[in-house]
Amino acid sequence: MTEPHWQDLIALDALEPDDVTAVALGRHRLAVYDGTAGISVSEARCTHAGADLCDGYFDGKAIECPLHQALFDCVSGRALAAPAVKPLKMYQSRVRDGRIEVLLPK
Ligand code: FES
Repeated sequence: MTEPHWQDLIALDALEPDDVTAVALGRHRLAVYDGTAGISVSEARCTHAGADLCDGYFDGKAIECPLHQALFDCVSGRALAAPAVKPLKMYQSRVRDGRIEVLLPK
């Protein structure tokens, strides 16, 4: 695996405001959150049984899985409610010139 490096993800103004946006980048399917703490990025698959979290309910801080209603903190990735116990993988992100970049292995 190559070292992680910053990759262009999406324009800031292309995000669903105050919501979660699905973005595919290479082999990664990511969830980009426009939350109360700013932008954060996680893997889009629920750690319980793989549902797409981008179809879930986002309240600005946590995402609820649409399949069995597990809850994840969208900044730390911590599982907040069963049935999920494993945290979401979060990716470091930054905004440059109106674009969101994410630190990912190529
Ligand atoms: S697949 Fe997400 S809680 Fe089961």
